[in-house]
Amino acid sequence: MSLILGIETSCDETAAAVVKNGSEVLSNRVASQIARHAAHGGVVPELAAREHLTAARPVLKSALREAGVGLRELDAVAVTNGPGLMPALLVGLNLAKGIALGNNLPLIGINHFIAHIYAAFLDDAAALQRPETYPLLALVVSGGHTALLLVDVRGQARLVGTTIDDAAGEALDKAAKMLGLGYPGGPLIQRAAENGDPFKYRFPRSLTGQAGKAVAPEHRFNFSFSGVKTALLYQLRRAGQGGRRLEGRELADTAASYQEAVIDVLARKTAAAAGEYAVRTVVLCGGVACNAVLRARLPEVLPETAALRLAERKYCTDNAAMVAGLAHYYYEKNEFSPPDTDAFARLPLISEVPFVNFSREIIEHRE
Ligand code: KG4
Ligand code: ZN
Repeated sequence: MSLILGIETSCDETAAAVVKNGSEVLSNRVASQIARHAAHGGVVPELAAREHLTAARPVLKSALREAGVGLRELDAVAVTNGPGLMPALLVGLNLAKGIALGNNLPLIGINHFIAHIYAAFLDDAAALQRPETYPLLALVVSGGHTALLLVDVRGQARLVGTTIDDAAGEALDKAAKMLGLGYPGGPLIQRAAENGDPFKYRFPRSLTGQAGKAVAPEHRFNFSFSGVKTALLYQLRRAGQGGRRLEGRELADTAASYQEAVIDVLARKTAAAAGEYAVRTVVLCGGVACNAVLRARLPEVLPETAALRLAERKYCTDNAAMVAGLAHYYYEKNEFSPPDTDAFARLPLISEVPFVNFSREIIEHRE
């Protein structure tokens, strides 16, 4: 049994949630700062930290109130301590440390990247315990990450692909800025693309194809989105002589073709990796996993032997339910973080995934 408070402040959402036993979400509060950052066309780390400071208390209070839980009833406090924006992470981490210290509760530092993957299991934690769920391939695709993580039945994990420049969400955010649509770009591009022709313009699909870098073994499942961004920039320069902005059909076709290039690469690489590693489950998670075109495309291209698990939309973008849920697996093993736990900005080398929690007997029985 566990009752855990989760706190998440790694980017521009201030979030708090209470989760029971890793999967019963009693509350899930998210305060978005989107409006504050929109004017800058992206997240400003120091501004994010300041906003977290003002939002944290009310968000925390309402998460506890909604769950009907007092601080004394909690078993632990979990907090994202990386990867993310350093000034933003520190607000949540210090808040969690204060609550833990003041209430004599254990502290559990959570890796945001792994929490995004766990989000796909919040509605069905039992699936984690079924050996036939593995090997599992997760496409984590957000504003900060675009990566493929392979997890075997023992919980051993390995990054088999990652972006060598921008994340897919970043590519969508920057395109939306160039097109004058606003921030965050993903949902705005999706809306602008709705009635457009995705095949009107051919945007580059970097690191795909049959020649050059794309066929180098180290890049087979890697991603690159700087080329597609540059191609849009040049197209807009050509079209926008005299400061003209795209609108109507032209805007819709451009947004649709750009979105198609990004989604096509994500879907094709994920399908290829799923085949190569003969995985039984593919997880789609992270903010870009909200995208309707990507959600519809993956089932079309995945091998039949791989079951697709889509994180619920509300758990795709940053939230604290995934943080409090994942923390349950540390709590069960008494794996707590020391009071001087640090925040970290970049993704560390991931060698195991804590939520794959098999007993040795199950593994030996399978072999
Ligand atoms: O996971 P998330 O909330 O934050 C990070 O950890 O980065 O992801 C945010 C990203 C942004 O780049 C945003 O544009 C993108 O997710 N996003 C979408 C959609 N909704 C959010 N991208 C494509 N289509 C969407 N519907
Ligand atoms: Zn995230």
